[in-house]
Amino acid sequence: MDLSILQQTLQIAEKYIAADQTDPVVPHRQPAEWLADFDLPISQEGMPEEAFMQLLENVTMATNKTASTAFFNQLYGGRNMVAVAAEIISVITNVSLYTYKVGGLQILIEKEVIAQMLKKVGFENGEGAFAPGGSLTNLVAMAVARNEKSQTIKNMGHDGRKYIVYSAEGHYSITKNAGLLGIGRSNVKKINSDSMGRMDPEKLRKQIQTDLQQGLRPLIVVSTAGTTVMGAFDQFEEVDKIAKEFDLWHHVDGALGGSALLSERYKALMKGCHLADSVSWNAHKLMGVPLTASVVMFKEKGMMKKHISERAEYLFQSDDEDLNPGIGSIQCGRHNDALKVWAMWKWLGHEGYEKRINHIFDLTKYAAEKVKSDPSMRLILEPQCVTLCFQVLEKSSIEICNYLNQHGMAKVGYGESKGETFIRAAFPNHNLTEQDIDRFLEMVKLAGEKI
Ligand SMILES: Cc1ncc(COP(=O)(O)O)c(C=O)c1O
Repeated sequence: MDLSILQQTLQIAEKYIAADQTDPVVPHRQPAEWLADFDLPISQEGMPEEAFMQLLENVTMATNKTASTAFFNQLYGGRNMVAVAAEIISVITNVSLYTYKVGGLQILIEKEVIAQMLKKVGFENGEGAFAPGGSLTNLVAMAVARNEKSQTIKNMGHDGRKYIVYSAEGHYSITKNAGLLGIGRSNVKKINSDSMGRMDPEKLRKQIQTDLQQGLRPLIVVSTAGTTVMGAFDQFEEVDKIAKEFDLWHHVDGALGGSALLSERYKALMKGCHLADSVSWNAHKLMGVPLTASVVMFKEKGMMKKHISERAEYLFQSDDEDLNPGIGSIQCGRHNDALKVWAMWKWLGHEGYEKRINHIFDLTKYAAEKVKSDPSMRLILEPQCVTLCFQVLEKSSIEICNYLNQHGMAKVGYGESKGETFIRAAFPNHNLTEQDIDRFLEMVKLAGEKI
C-alpha cells in the first residue's frame, strides 16, 4: 500500500509539472471559493485511499506554480530535478541531523556543503550551520553577536543597557529578530542608503557617534548582500572598518546575494565579506534548491558552541563534538537540508553552478535593457542582482500586479523605495530565457493598457 501511494504521488507530481507549461499560473481565488470547492475539514472517519488520492491531486493542482516561467513574485523559483530527488531522499530517510549516531554519512555531507560555503566566503577557520531560512540564520547570527558583545546576557538575562542594531535596506527579519532577542525593535536604526540602495558608511559612522554620546551601546551592524527589493550590495569593506573602529559585530545578510560567490564574474559584489564576523546565505534562493536551505557562517570557530550549546545527555551521547552539529544549533530535530544542496552542487560542479548564476544575473541585465529601450517604461535603478525594479509610465504598478495575478497571467509583486512604488520582478529561476522575459514585459504592458 505504501509504495502504491508513492507511485500515485509521483503521477500527481508529473501532472503538476506538466501543467507548468499549460497553466503556468493558478488564478487568485478568495478563501471562501477554495473552501467551497475543497473538502478540507478533518473528520472522525477518515477517507478511503482512492478518494483521498484524488483529493491530494486536486489540492496539488490548485497550488501555485513557483517553478513556472510566469512566477516572478519571490526571490526563489524554478525546479531542479536533482535537488528535488535529493529532497525526496531526505524525506524518505528522515534522519535528523543533530548527531552522527543518527545522521551518519549525511552529517559528513552537511559538513562538505558548509566547508565549500566557508571557502567561498573566505572564512579560513570558520564554522557554520544550516537553519530553516534566512530569517532564522540571521536570528542565530544576531543571537551569537548579542551574547558575544554583552558577555552577560546569555546566562544572566538582559543587563539594562540600550543595545543598538544598524542596517540600511535590511530585511524585515532584522527588526523582528531584534524584538525576539530583547534588543527591541525600536533600537534598530535605519541608515540612509545612497542612490544605488547601498548603506552610506559615513552616515553609519555619524549615527554610531551620536548614539555613543547619548550613552547607548552600539551592538551590531547588519549589511546586506542583495537587498530584498532593489538587490543592492552594501560596501562590506567600508562598513567593516567602522564596525571594528567602534567594536560592533558585523553580520552580512547574504540570503539573496551570497550566491554571487559562485561566479567569477559577479563575486566582486561580495568583496570584503570575509572581514565580517558572520554571513548568512540561502541556497534556496539563487542556488535554485527547494525550500528551505540556509546557512549561517561564523569567522571564528567555536562561536556556536560558546553561545548556543546546551547539555542534553539523552541526545549527545557519543562521538566527537564536531560530528554532532546539534550542539551548535538552535534546533533539536533538524531536517536534512544539506543533501539537496550537495546533490545539485556535486552534479553541476563549480563550473556548472557558475554558468547558472551568470545566466540569471545576465538575464536581469537583459530585462533592464529592454525596459530602458521602451519609451512606455521606466527603469528605477540598474539591477545589481536578480530583481528588476521598473514602472509603466502613468500607470499604477500596484494595479498592474493585481491585474496580472487576478487574470492568471503572472505572479509579480511591487516594491517601494524613497516614496516611489514600482513593479519588482525577480528572476531567480535558472530556467528562464530571454523569450520569457520578453513575454513577461509584454504582459505587463498589456495589463497597463487594461487597467
Ligand atoms: C536579504 C534577505 N534576508 C533574509 C531573507 C529571509 O529569508 P527566508 O525567506 O529564507 O527567511 C530574505 C528573503 O527574501 C532576504 O531577501
